[in-house]
Formats: sequence, structure tokens, C-alpha cells
Amino acid sequence: MSKEFDVIVIGGGPGGYIAAIRAAQLGFNVACIDEWKNSKGGPAPGGTCTNVGCIPSKALLQSSEHYEHAGKHFAEHGIEVKGLGLDVGKMLARKDAVVKQNNDGILFLFKKNKVTFFHGRGSFVKAVDGAYEIKVAGATEETVTGKHIIVATGSNARALPGAPFDEENILSNDGALRIGGVPKKLGLIGSGVIGLEMGSVWRRLGAEVTVLEGLPTFLGAVDEQIAKEAKKAFDKQGLKIELGVKVGEIKTGKKGVSVAYTNAKGEAQTLDVDKLIVSIGRVPNTTGLSAEAVGLSLDERGAIVVDGDCKTNLPGVWAIGDVVRGPMLAHKAEEEGVAVAERIAGQHGHVNFNTIPWVIYTHPEIAWVGQTEQQLKAEGRAYKAGTFPFLANGRARALGDTTGMVKFLADAATDEILGVHMVGPQVSELISEAVVAMEFKASSEDIARICHAHPSLSEATKEAALAVDKRTLNF
Ligand code: FAD
Ligand code: NAI
Repeated sequence: MSKEFDVIVIGGGPGGYIAAIRAAQLGFNVACIDEWKNSKGGPAPGGTCTNVGCIPSKALLQSSEHYEHAGKHFAEHGIEVKGLGLDVGKMLARKDAVVKQNNDGILFLFKKNKVTFFHGRGSFVKAVDGAYEIKVAGATEETVTGKHIIVATGSNARALPGAPFDEENILSNDGALRIGGVPKKLGLIGSGVIGLEMGSVWRRLGAEVTVLEGLPTFLGAVDEQIAKEAKKAFDKQGLKIELGVKVGEIKTGKKGVSVAYTNAKGEAQTLDVDKLIVSIGRVPNTTGLSAEAVGLSLDERGAIVVDGDCKTNLPGVWAIGDVVRGPMLAHKAEEEGVAVAERIAGQHGHVNFNTIPWVIYTHPEIAWVGQTEQQLKAEGRAYKAGTFPFLANGRARALGDTTGMVKFLADAATDEILGVHMVGPQVSELISEAVVAMEFKASSEDIARICHAHPSLSEATKEAALAVDKRTLNF
């Protein structure tokens, strides 16, 4: 007899493990199946985010930022550093330890919430009496049955045609996070989120970094004014970004990787690098899920087709996170996981796609929520804009980190906040205030009238809100 569960979650990334915990909190008997293995073959729940995404990239961003500060910026504070050294092995080991803490944390949370964990690959076998039979293959081999199935199988890096990832010369995010020593020359294809974050890590550690981007505009999804400011900062740091290129043949050899491309002027070029990171987006992952065994619908991109509530074409089967439509972000996957668990319990789980924040963890950081100025213009919406530069913020001056600004966009008639865009120090944290404000449908005046601690970077948020009404106090 196969074990029976109310809810079976396939995939233990941020979408899956959070869905499992929320379902267990709601009183369901829950199983979560995840196949990720650590270096010893043991379970490593947390998915892309924990193992080769959000967490390890932020660990390396932090380490490389310390290194750059020690080498280039401590002197401004009167701190002399002599004999500064770099131990990439130790840096990677620290990153791996941070990852393991997170893997172990999730296993602990499963125990605490009485979620049964299976380490292996889950695949659909058949539908039986209003439930589904799922085969688990791997460290644990068994068949389990669930009334509700939540598919949270995530995504994989997209390769360039004719240039598969070998993780030695041509690297996905996985290889990019474990380069054993600083390459002299590093190439990246795609100046999106991974391109900028991983390019920043290795540039700070001493690599000469060139990023080749297909589109003629830099960070097209970001508010233009913010993207421009960020590009200026990256140029100054020496991160070389070539826009509007067309990548051609990629050859690997003993000396590294050679990328043939046409630049924006149409001239044939070659980029020779020691390592190449390809970061041109990700594709939904349904490998080994046997979706066809039960007739689960996929779209032409391979994503599982869902409605606004994450319901698939099959009764009782739900899908969330990177494997479905929408932004590929850990917190979006988590929100969908919670909402689906609550819907299964008959509650009204809700995800507000208009208030999902984005953060790019470069230096300066870039963060935003809501609509950009170019989107509002395209819509023909009447809006007011207010900006405030960190240059005029006392805390930013004390930090020695005055690049960037906060920008508010508010409806011209009602003053409702439509978008908040930031580039500058610690804006990954500042953006939450804007998210809360937008969730509560606040006006820019609401933020402008709230007392913000002094001296703090958050005063730039208040001042940008004041700027909407052209009444900044410190600029
Ligand atoms: P995943 O995290 O991909 O998890 C899916 C899990 O399912 C995996 O463990 C996989 O092994 C398992 N699985 C797949 N198929 C099966 C099967 N058949 N049986 C059992 N298990 C299976 N997002 C942010 O919000 N902030 C960031 O800072 C950020 N940084 C990133 C940095 C990098 C380098 C990358 C690559 C991504 C980053 N992301 C970030 C994106 C984020 O990692 C994803 O959006 C998020 O992990 C998606 O969560 P998920 O649960 O849908 O899928
Ligand atoms: P991306 O979609 O952010 O960027 C891909 C870039 O590659 C785009 O600028 C695109 O125009 C370019 N591109 C595509 N094909 C190309 C080609 N053939 N030649 C040259 N350029 C090409 O994707 P990325 O960076 O791979 O990251 C994947 C996803 O992971 C992100 O979209 C995001 O959802 C998530 N992520 C989130 C992070 C965060 O929240 N801080 C950090 C890293 C990843």
C-alpha cells in the first residue's frame, strides 16, 4: 500500500518548501519530495535559491565587497591595509557553509512542522480515485498518493545554442559560483540580473570582466533614469558592458573560450576569455516529472500552464514558482506556495503581482516596485515624479556611499504611489517601505508625512516622496 497524504509537494525550493510548511500549519498531512543532492549525496533542500542562486550569490557578493572595501575604500576612512590577500578557496568554503546552514534549516523546519521529506525524484504515475500516485526514485524508493499535488520543480539555466554548459569553461550560475581561482579575463553573455551580480563578484576579486548584451538598452525592465545611473556607476567600476551585440560561434580550447560576435556597429569582433558565464535567462524545469502520464498541460516554453490561482488543467494539481508564468523570483514562488496551501484549505490565498519587489544586489544596489516611468508614459497615465539623490543624505555621506537616488511615481490626480525606484546603498532594505505603502494604497504624501529616523538612508525615501510635491527639505 502506498503512503497517503493530503498534500504532496514535488520540489523543495522556496516555492515548494514554504508551500509544504504552510499546508502543514493548516492541518494537512504533507509530504515534500526534493531531489537536490549535496556534495556527499545527501539531501540539500532549498532548490536553486539555496544551492546555486540567491543565497550563495549573496554570500560571494558580501565577501567580494569586503575585499574591494579593504583594498580601495578603507584608506578614505584612515584605515591602512598592508599585505591584503585573497583566499578564494576559503571564500568558497564560507559560501558552502552558508548554503549548508540553510539546507539544514529547511530539514529542521520540516521536522518541526511534521512534513514528511523524501529525498529523490518525484514523478506522476497515474490518477486514482480523485488522487494521484507519485513515484519517488532516489535515496528513497516508494510510491505515495496525494489528494492535492503542488508542483514546484523550478527552472534551469538557458544555454546558448551550440554552446552547452560544461561548467569548466562555459558556466551556468552553478559553475559561476564555484570558480576555483580568479580568472584573468571573464566573459559574460547577458547583462541581466545574474550577469551583473556575478560580473560584480569576479570584477571585485580582480578579473577583467566583459559583459555582452543582446539588447540595445541596458536593463530594459528597470526605470530608465535608474538604469542610466546604475550604468554610470558600473562603467566607473570598470565593468565593461557592450550593448546591442549578436553572439556568434563560441569555441573552447586549452586557453579558454573564444566568443565571436558582432558589435552594435555591425563590426565582427572576438572576445577571448578564460571563463565564460552564460546568463541569458532560465527555462522552466519539468524534467523527469512525467507530466504526460497524467496529461498535465505545458506551454510552448515548457512552463506548466496555470490560471491566476496556480490551478493547472488537472483537478487537485497546482503549480507554483519558476515552473509557471511570472517573474522568476524566490519571494514570488514563496507567496504562491502560501496562497495555494490556503486555497487547498478553502481560504482565499492571494498574491499581488503589482507589489512584488525586485532587487539587484550589485553596488550600488538597484531595487524597485510597481510601474516604471516608461510604462506609465506608454499607458498614457498622468503621473507626477519626485527624486532625491543620496548625495544630499547625511547617513549616505557618513557611509561614504552617495551614489544613486530614490524616485517616486504617483498618480497626478489622486497621488497614489504607482512605482518606487531606487539605486544606491542598501536599497534592498529600503524598498520594503515602498512595498508596504503600495500594498496599503498609500499616497506619496502619506510617506512624506511619516517621521523617519535621522540620520538614516530611509530619509531619502521620505524626501523623494516630498519631491513629488516639489517640497524637498534637504535638496
Ligand atoms: P527552485 O528553487 O528551482 O527549486 C526547485 C526544486 O525542485 C529543486 O530543488 C529541484 O532539485 C527540485 N526538483 C525538480 N524536479 C523535481 C522532481 N521531479 N522531483 C523532485 N524534486 C525535483 N531570486 C530572488 O528572489 N532573489 C535573488 O537574490 C535571487 N538570486 C538568484 C541568483 C542566481 C544565480 C539564480 C540562478 C537565481 C536567483 N534567484 C533569485 C531566482 C530564484 O532562485 C528562483 O526564482 C527560485 O529558486 C524559484 O523557486 P522554485 O521553488 O520555483 O524553484
Ligand atoms: P535575465 O532575464 O535577468 O537577463 C538575461 C539577459 O540576457 C537579458 O538582458 C537578455 O536581453 C540577455 N540575452 C538573452 N539572450 C541573449 C543572447 N543570445 N545574447 C546576448 N544577450 C542575451 O536572466 P538571468 O540573468 O539569466 O537571470 C535569470 C533569472 O534569475 C532572472 O530573470 C531573475 O528572475 C532570477 N534572478 C534574480 C536575482 C535577484 O532577484 N537578485 C539574481 C539572479 C537571478
